[in-house]
Amino acid sequence: MSKLWGSRFKKKTHPLVEQFTSSIAYDYKLAKYDLLVSIAHAQMLGKTKIIPSKDSAKIVQGLKSILKQVQENRFTFDRKCEDIHTNIQNALEKRIGKTAQRLHTARSRNDQVVTDLRMYAKEEIENLKLKIKSLQQTLVSFARKNIKVIIPGFTHLQHAQCVFLAHHLLAYVEMLQRDKDRLADAYKRCDVLPLGSAALAGTSLAINRNYVAKLLDFSKVSANSLDAVSDRDFVLEILADLSILAMHLSRMAEDFVLWAAPEFSLLELDDSFATGSSLMPQKKNPDVLELVRANAGATYGSLVSLLTTMKALPLAYNRDMQMDKLPLFNSAEDLNICLEVLSGLVNSAKINQNQALILSSDELLCATDLAEYLVKKGVAFKEAHKIVGKIIAYALQKKIFLSEISLDQWKKFSMHFKKGVYKLLNAHASVAAKKSFGGTSPQSVKRQLENWKKSLR
Ligand code: ARG
Repeated sequence: MSKLWGSRFKKKTHPLVEQFTSSIAYDYKLAKYDLLVSIAHAQMLGKTKIIPSKDSAKIVQGLKSILKQVQENRFTFDRKCEDIHTNIQNALEKRIGKTAQRLHTARSRNDQVVTDLRMYAKEEIENLKLKIKSLQQTLVSFARKNIKVIIPGFTHLQHAQCVFLAHHLLAYVEMLQRDKDRLADAYKRCDVLPLGSAALAGTSLAINRNYVAKLLDFSKVSANSLDAVSDRDFVLEILADLSILAMHLSRMAEDFVLWAAPEFSLLELDDSFATGSSLMPQKKNPDVLELVRANAGATYGSLVSLLTTMKALPLAYNRDMQMDKLPLFNSAEDLNICLEVLSGLVNSAKINQNQALILSSDELLCATDLAEYLVKKGVAFKEAHKIVGKIIAYALQKKIFLSEISLDQWKKFSMHFKKGVYKLLNAHASVAAKKSFGGTSPQSVKRQLENWKKSLR
């Protein structure tokens, strides 16, 4: 293996050190970006006459043929190389000979690797945004399919108030929108070209960084060479955004795990998205959802791992920063598959509408509506809350439904109760009453669905 350094050393590197410091096992994933970066760099070196233009052309041609091999999965990565940059430099030398030695002019692996990583990050952000959008679309169409379904809404996992299933699902669509917006915002911070910062101080050679930025589609050029090679906050920002996304997915997964349990029986997973037990023949398990739920742990781990790696690192580049790659690669790959699999699961699942009817017929879900009925008659809310609490205690003690209480009895609790009170005691009346903006009324849910349909087109 030929290294990119070594002439000042009298001894060979210890094999353990070679193994320990090598990153090719994972940074091979940057091959495409490394080649694109090198092609642009070589073109710039030719254009600025820092190297002869025929050498530039020869290097570009050689790199393009390697790129083709990489893209067609025909390139064999050399596990003996220190990193992907070394691997590609060696491959180029093998292909075009000595001319290749001019490529690494006015650059260092320090600015090279972070340029590669920024390009990887930009592309991954775009991929993730598409996957998030597709999950949003799936949730919206699942909501439309079950537009009439009312379920109990929970706080503290106790029956709270009735909501439309669609309203519940659209809550996740909102969260996913913010996740997408956060990533779009992070993209802007990734979109800055570090190449040309060289090892840390810039270069005495008359390079043209704006030209490279144009070739590589970066909208800005970094203003401080030390910052450019030292900073990994663009990775941390993505990991923070992905952690929040993973947290949202874990909550959605948990809701679905609960709904699929026999005690809820609200959601029936399709066989193709469920798993079985090796011992209990009757089992149909939500392992897919559980793994999505668990993924948040690994993603938080990636964030904390890199935050800790970067903490108190002196400027500028330190080899510690080589450890930025796996957290980013792993989290991006994990989130990609989680989003995709969740989408497939939701798409194929079914809501048990009968069970939704049974669960949402719990009259206690309308308790707040009773209190608000009294408020509309002029009673102070605190007083109304107390009255309704007493009525509920009465019904529980007598083991009767609220609708079984006689009107005379209602009037004993408050003279404001009229015959109309019985009409409040059902799920439809309850959701229909929640007309406040953003509430769960049919109009509000319809408006949300229409808006999402338009904006996710
Ligand atoms: N493999 C290194 C990394 O990922 C590349 C930069 C190495 N630079 C150096 N001066 N040792 O960060």
